[in-house]
Formats: sequence, structure tokens, C-alpha cells
Amino acid sequence: MTIRNTTAHKSLETFKSISNKDYTFIRELIYNETRINLGEGKRELVTARLGKRLRATGLTSIQDYCSKLKNDPKNGELYHLIDAISTNHTFFFREINHFNFLNETILPQFANGELGNPNSLNVWSCACSTGEEPYSVAITLADFMEKQTKGRWQLNCSDISTKVLDFASKGVYDKNRIKEVKTEWQRKYFQKGEKQMDGYYRVHPELRKNVKFQRINLFGTPFQWREKFQIIFCRNVMIYFDRPTQEDLVGRLAQHLVPGGYLLIGHAESLAGVNHPYDTVKPAIYQLPA
Ligand SMILES: C[S@@+](CC[C@H](N)C(=O)[O-])C[C@H]1O[C@@H](n2cnc3c(N)ncnc32)[C@H](O)[C@@H]1O
Repeated sequence: MTIRNTTAHKSLETFKSISNKDYTFIRELIYNETRINLGEGKRELVTARLGKRLRATGLTSIQDYCSKLKNDPKNGELYHLIDAISTNHTFFFREINHFNFLNETILPQFANGELGNPNSLNVWSCACSTGEEPYSVAITLADFMEKQTKGRWQLNCSDISTKVLDFASKGVYDKNRIKEVKTEWQRKYFQKGEKQMDGYYRVHPELRKNVKFQRINLFGTPFQWREKFQIIFCRNVMIYFDRPTQEDLVGRLAQHLVPGGYLLIGHAESLAGVNHPYDTVKPAIYQLPA
């Protein structure tokens, strides 16, 4: 009994403490790879999340874990670290004003030909997390296209975390997670699970077939898109980046928008103080000059 207590106490202590040197190493590694800026205030959170990776890898100290990262030529553990560190909070129809604006302003402009080809809408959700954002967009697009115009649409979705992308591409959510979706749309765009999937809902294959997921690091190799987008959703990710990084990102995103195309960012984010080529339409809604 005494021995077990001591061991438990020791391993807890190991998980709880991180040396300045190891914290600096983790911070720099994460910053260089993702541009996520982990300040001193994130030390406890990072340590707790590293605890999960220690348990998963069977290592007993953060120092050993850092050595593993230093000898990780294929970046396998780095991807797990990014999964563990990144914050993936999201929900269906988050920041509803964006969906109202999409339905009432952007999509009618698209249908009128103000955003280029009125028959083909190309949208990118570039920090899509577990899929709630892109599927909310997909529902809005499908609903508009069915009622107002017969145009094609395609939604490209990306994130740096492979874990969230796996989840998103399955498109299966438990009942509580779809409660922000209107009942009418729940019935139309989700399939109710049965037997062991009771309580779960899967996004309808008709909707999923226009939604593609892939891993893209916003700060990795240059974006490979062949076609430009009429709309880019880049919401609730810039909050983790410093100003020069935000400026670099929104500038590069602009190169992938058609003239008149829209950039939507999170409501807690702002481009105030950032040099950028967009016109401000409303808070968190920016448009490239036509
Ligand atoms: C808080 S979620 C936002 C989800 C969704 N856009 C929303 O607003 O609800 C932030 C997402 O950004 C992703 N992310 C962080 N850094 C990234 C990077 N450098 N490249 C691509 N995605 C990144 C995270 O993995 C996470 O899934």
C-alpha cells in the first residue's frame, strides 16, 4: 500500500512539472510547426496534455518525451503532439450571424453572378476541426441551392490535426451535438442511427459527397489549390497566432479568393492593426475588392 502510494505520487509529480528547458523546446517546436503561440500562461495546460502523451507512449518523464520528439524523423509523434495541444472546440451553426449573412447576402450575390461563375460555388473551411462548421455550411448551401438556384457547390475542408479530420470525415455526431441544427434540417440532412448507433446521427451521404477533408497546415508548403474560392471560413484559429502570423495568413488566403470573395473569421478575432487587402463588411466579415 505504501509503495503504491509513493509510486502514484511520484508519477503525478513527474506529469505535473516541466523544466524551463523542456517547456521552451515544446513551445518552439509547436510554434515552428503550427504558429500556435503558447505563452507562459499555457504552461499548466501543456503539461496536462503532455501527460496524456506520456501515458500513451509509456514514457515516464517529459524529458524522455522531448528526447523522443528530437529523434522523430518521420514526425509521427509530432502529429500526436499537435493533436494533443490544439484546441478543437466547435459546434454546429456557431456564430449564427455568419450563416444568416451567407444565406441572405453571399449566396444571392453568387446566384446573380457577382462572385464569378453563378453555377459553381467553391468554399474552403481551413480550420474545420471535427466538422461541425463545414457541415453547417454544407446544409446552408444545399438548402439555398435547392430553393433558389440549381448551381453546383463544393466544400473543401482542412485542419492540421489528423485526429479531428478522421472524426469529421465520418460525419457521425451524438444527439447532443446536433441540437443547434433545426429539427427540419436534422430530419433532412442526417440519418438516425439504429441498434448500437442509437443516439447517433450521420450526415446524409448526399451532403457528404460534396464535402472533402484533407490535412493542410496553414503554415506548411504553399497551398496547392487550382481553383479560387468564393468564400473562405477561417474562424477561431487566428486567435492562437501572433499579429505578424495573422497578417501573413490573411494575405496568403486573399490570393485564393476570387475578386469580391469573402473571408469569414471568428467573432472574437479581428483584423484591426493588421495590414490586409480586404474591405470590412461587418465585424468578422471581410471582402476582397471586386
Ligand atoms: C477552435 S478550432 C475552430 C473550429 C471551427 N473553425 C470553429 O470556428 O468552430 C481551431 C482549429 O484550428 C486548427 N489549427 C490550429 N493550427 C492550425 C494550423 N497551423 N493549420 C491548420 N489548422 C490549424 C486546430 O487543429 C483546430 O481544429
